[in-house]
Amino acid sequence: MNRSFSSVSRSWALALGVSLSLLSGVCLAERAPMQPLPSPSGIDFPKSANADGTQAQSQPANPPIWNSANSDPYNFVSIPDKEASVLIQRAGEQWRLIRNGVITVYGAWILAIAFFGIAALFIIKGPIKLHAPLSGQKVKRFNGFERFTHWVMAASFIGLAFTGLLILYGKYFAMPLMGGVAYGSFLMVCKNIHNYSGPLFTLSVVIFFLLFATRNIPGQGDLTWIKSFGGMFGGKHPPAGFFNFGEKIWFWFGMTFLGLIISGSGFVLDMIVPFMQVEYLRGTMQLANIVHSSASILMTAMAMGHIYIGSIGMQGSSDGMMTGYVDATWAKEHHEIWYNKINK
Ligand code: HEM
Repeated sequence: MNRSFSSVSRSWALALGVSLSLLSGVCLAERAPMQPLPSPSGIDFPKSANADGTQAQSQPANPPIWNSANSDPYNFVSIPDKEASVLIQRAGEQWRLIRNGVITVYGAWILAIAFFGIAALFIIKGPIKLHAPLSGQKVKRFNGFERFTHWVMAASFIGLAFTGLLILYGKYFAMPLMGGVAYGSFLMVCKNIHNYSGPLFTLSVVIFFLLFATRNIPGQGDLTWIKSFGGMFGGKHPPAGFFNFGEKIWFWFGMTFLGLIISGSGFVLDMIVPFMQVEYLRGTMQLANIVHSSASILMTAMAMGHIYIGSIGMQGSSDGMMTGYVDATWAKEHHEIWYNKINK
């Protein structure tokens, strides 16, 4: 293993570890004092009101008015926007506590576990090497359009993940560093990058799905792959078709399922849902936000594993997506069933 690279990656691992641990600490610190305070954010209660929005016993003036203002059910308005009659939406506070507590804290843990798991794998086991020497004989794996679609998807996803994480976590580390005004402008740029790369990502996911769905249908070799856990148990690399079972999970669950959930909820948040009439209530946006951020965190964690295996984690794996060709030794060792088929 290259020494200078390994020490650089170790420092990166350490830096990210410290920052993620601090980050989840900061998120928890923000959440902790909020627990007993389910008061609607930004609302200055009159001194006579309780923290939960009900009127204090000592001053029971207008409790019915306050209760009807601070309630989720609709009151009466004569304009078409019925939700305008809900002055204070109590569910908003629940959403805020979920977003700035459950999602930020558990999300940071999921990302940290994925990152450190991969870093540990790299440091302890190192990259997966080929057993036989390279043959020098090239085998065609992907055409130009397939590679172009993959890289558009990868670039837009990385842009989305980077800006999305800044939107979710930026206030804990970037805002204190930059100051509120600069951070506000910076986040506005991030938000626009995020909003415009979203549809590009969706389009690339759909095209990629059409290009590769048939090659990801479960088939010969998958059961052996599952039984030996992708070759981790049993020592021998299980023979696989064009894609192995691990890649198929990434294709169906990671890219297709999570990709489409993220895209669908993203379109709701962008208010550009095609072919559908969405009723834009506050609850709609809150639910879309929770679904969007949870699925995005999960996909980012999975993408870390994919990016690792597709780059520094496995000798020769990036060649196919970079050049369109792989070495015959790599094809034989990692996708033997496919290799034998094209060699017939
Ligand atoms: C810079 C980051 C990335 C690198 C280096 C990378 C690398 C690769 C490589 C080398 C392959 C081909 C593997 C093979 O020949 O069997 C591949 C396939 C694939 N990549 Fe990536 N990738 C990256 C980012 C992404 C992202 C962000 C996504 C999804 C949003 C993605 C989705 C896929 C999918 C779905 C496949 C095909 C797997 C299958 O269909 O079973 N990649 N990638």
